[in-house]
Amino acid sequence: MESYDIGLGNNDATVRSEAERDYVRFWDDQARLLNWFEPWTQTLQWDPPFARWFVGGVTNISYNALDAHQDARGDKPAILWEGEDGASRILTYRDMWLQVQRAANGLKSLGVKKGDRVTVYLPMVPELIITMMACARIGAVHTVVFSGFSAGSLAERINDSGSEVVVTADIGYRRGRPVRLMGVVEDALAKAPSVRHVIVLSRESAPPDEPPYVSWDDMMEQPESCAAEPVGSTDPLFILYTSGTTGRPKGVLHGTGGYMTHIHSTFRWAFDIRDDDIYFCTADIGWVTGHSYVAYAPFLCGATQIIYEGAPDYPDASRLWKIIEKYRATIFYTTPTALRMLIKHGDHIPKSHDLSALRLLGSVGEPINPEVWKWYYRVVGGSRCPIIDTWWQTETGGMLISALPGIETRPLKPGSGTVSIPGLDMAVLDENGNDVPPDTKGYLAVRNPWPGMMLTLWKDDQKYKDVYWSKFAGCYYPGDYARIDEDGYLWLLGRADDILKVSGHRIGTAELESCVVSHDAIAESAVVGMPNEVKGESIVVFAVPREGAGDTGSLGGEIRKLVAGAIGPIAKPDSVYVVPSLPKTRSGKIMRRLLKNMVAGDAVGDTTTMEDASALDGVRAAISDQHG
Ligand code: WT7
Repeated sequence: MESYDIGLGNNDATVRSEAERDYVRFWDDQARLLNWFEPWTQTLQWDPPFARWFVGGVTNISYNALDAHQDARGDKPAILWEGEDGASRILTYRDMWLQVQRAANGLKSLGVKKGDRVTVYLPMVPELIITMMACARIGAVHTVVFSGFSAGSLAERINDSGSEVVVTADIGYRRGRPVRLMGVVEDALAKAPSVRHVIVLSRESAPPDEPPYVSWDDMMEQPESCAAEPVGSTDPLFILYTSGTTGRPKGVLHGTGGYMTHIHSTFRWAFDIRDDDIYFCTADIGWVTGHSYVAYAPFLCGATQIIYEGAPDYPDASRLWKIIEKYRATIFYTTPTALRMLIKHGDHIPKSHDLSALRLLGSVGEPINPEVWKWYYRVVGGSRCPIIDTWWQTETGGMLISALPGIETRPLKPGSGTVSIPGLDMAVLDENGNDVPPDTKGYLAVRNPWPGMMLTLWKDDQKYKDVYWSKFAGCYYPGDYARIDEDGYLWLLGRADDILKVSGHRIGTAELESCVVSHDAIAESAVVGMPNEVKGESIVVFAVPREGAGDTGSLGGEIRKLVAGAIGPIAKPDSVYVVPSLPKTRSGKIMRRLLKNMVAGDAVGDTTTMEDASALDGVRAAISDQHG
């Protein structure tokens, strides 16, 4: 196999060897690189499966992100913001520091206190980060909801988190069209009676001049000084909802000191970040990548970053390359889905832009196919930039598997995540919890805690134990397949559970199915993910009409609309098959594997445990009807 040199020449073997000697001591040293108001008395309190890091330590992440840089970098740009319509803004570390303090005072004036939850439903504007850091500054817990989610999804998250304050904007921009966020919030409020205040950032029109609405500008009419609240290391920083294998999204709860330490270290190791770098991550802050490696880690490291609000292919497929050229970005971090979409438009587009400032490229969110990896390396990186494929999850807080050119020179293999970060005991196990031999597919597992690990699931310790810590005794189970090759490199092989990755977005099949059966005419449903050239996976729905449901001709369209409306456009099914019944085992389990094989046009597979073989005929007929 070809070998790809990491090329940066940073080789500090002591980092890994120290982590191997004593991972607790190792993370203790990493935490000391940040500022603490009070030192911790215990580095790790490990009460499996609950880990508490730097216990007794007192700090504040907004202090580390902003105050800590004022002397050395007050005038340094923190954010180079680019709107979809070409508008731009530059905010320095000083600008951010002053605005965050005003916003923190503003939230306090509305009665927000330490520990209170604040739901944030904003587009990709600097005010989103300002709001998050203002919450952190006063010890409030932010819960950011991706601005593509529907009113129902938003209300569910407001209610589950018990937020009394929501921060939103009148509109966001997507593909040249305004997206009315305020309208979505209004609809959500009808189902979320606990909300006392809605702060509205006006971009186009004035906000309503009546309670519960407060304009952003009025909220910001505050003194520019608000000292960072002393926050316990193990106090919560945020809740971020993510899809699981059951119907309702889970509130992943992250803490302060451990999370901060983890993302600060991994950002430096993975991206070899330097003071003159221009970092550009395309992730939306509504997802964890945008929390850890847009809203927080670049600030902790005093870096300058580009934030782009719009769609990657608007007005055309050269948009991202134009941004990289304009700002002379040095580090670019994006998703395989975005790359696959851009590849389709041809090499001439990236090649006709000056991308020569780039020195490092990252990938995240889903497996990157080796061909896409090589295209990224050759066409975008000019065969000069290492590709850093980072594997992690909402629950892990930060990267757990990645090449680390900031500290190591291990050669890269296209499509492999390389190895775990220092301080982690990671394994690939079989169904019985034994290590599998090299090059064998198994379940990824982690045998010790790490600082970015979630505290728990919001208000659901039991589910936290059941979902992540019960498959293998004493191991964290992320729900991914993986294999380790002869050289010890890890290859991620996709989800082992009923979670889909559609354009990098995580969507649970159970959530989709319960939405489909909320349609009056539908009795039962099964959702499967099918490989998709651009999106990674596409959503395929099988729906069984109720008896006497009448004409089923329009059901497909209705179901697609229903799901997009109930969850959000990202969850819109790609195809819907209306079938008389679903193939099930004798114990009543839907045989999704058979459905997948049939859609793919493959052999149906083993049907020995099947209850009623005639279900397959109906499925076959529905598929051939649609494919004509
Ligand atoms: C799931 C987590 C990583 C933050 C954004 C997504 C898949 C993530 C990779 C990668 C292969 C990946 C896994 C994981 N995944 N990164 N580099 N290679 N698969 O966070 O929404 O919580 O999703 O995304 O299946 O479990 P998330």
